[in-house]
Amino acid sequence: MPASNDFHSGINQGVAPVTYGQGDRPPRGDYSRAAADYTCEQDWASYTAEDHALYRRLHERQSAQLPGLACAEFIEAVSQLGEPDRIPRFDQLSRRLHRATGWEVVAVPGLIPEEAFFKLLADRRFPVTGWLRRPEEFDYVVEPDVFHDLFGHVPLLFNPVFADYMQAYGAGGLKASRLEACEYLARLYWYTVEFGLIATPAGLRAYGAGILSSAGELRHSVLSPEPQRLGFDLERIMRTRYKIDTYQASYFVIDSFDQLFEATAPDFTPIYRRVGDAGVLEADSHLPGDRRY
Ligand code: PHE
Ligand code: FE
Repeated sequence: MPASNDFHSGINQGVAPVTYGQGDRPPRGDYSRAAADYTCEQDWASYTAEDHALYRRLHERQSAQLPGLACAEFIEAVSQLGEPDRIPRFDQLSRRLHRATGWEVVAVPGLIPEEAFFKLLADRRFPVTGWLRRPEEFDYVVEPDVFHDLFGHVPLLFNPVFADYMQAYGAGGLKASRLEACEYLARLYWYTVEFGLIATPAGLRAYGAGILSSAGELRHSVLSPEPQRLGFDLERIMRTRYKIDTYQASYFVIDSFDQLFEATAPDFTPIYRRVGDAGVLEADSHLPGDRRY
């Protein structure tokens, strides 16, 4: 959730976004205060003035590059996060979010096991890491922190269609766990929720949180001639490996959040079987059927 990839140089190095808790080192964060569902108190009072100042700098850097690169739905909702000069209080943010789409944000110590993650999403509760990166991690943090989770993910939870997609994803995750298909579903999360692009009349724009919270990948994903940008194709995505330690080699482009919601509504059981039979593809692979941008 990943130098070249700041997010990745980044945030999810070595840890796939929904295979929470399976990294090769213990996750950062204090798990002793967490409840059985992995949620905990935000403990807002424990943030220091330096934490708030760092959050403000991160917010400033990312906000400055949104015009022309982020989708309009995201840009419009950023102000809903609260004052840009301090880490938001989750309870206040949750009240605004709940009024908009019925979602809330809940604090977690850090990465959590995937089943716990899916369950929270299915209940329209978005887990946000409590801790903030250190100043020396301004461009690079190894796991998702409060800035990535909030700034990257929460604005689109104010969009009704995307909000429903996230809940469906959580329910789908619980089902995929039973079917042992989490690897396929994790790729869908990666190429949509974390690194998705959307085609708009004004051109391609980013909606993925990994891109939108990254210092460098936002520009790269939308403007660089290097990566390939392919039309959204559910089964193609489920077959495609992703990069966790560099910028993505491939991005997938949706036409609308409605398209994303509708394309993922069918029962995935037969789809997982087909995807398993079709075989895995490298992150930069080309297929004759690819629709290129
Ligand atoms: N339709 C999927 C299933 O039946 C669930 C899902 C929805 C998964 C949306 C991801 C996103 O398994
Ligand atoms: Fe993320």
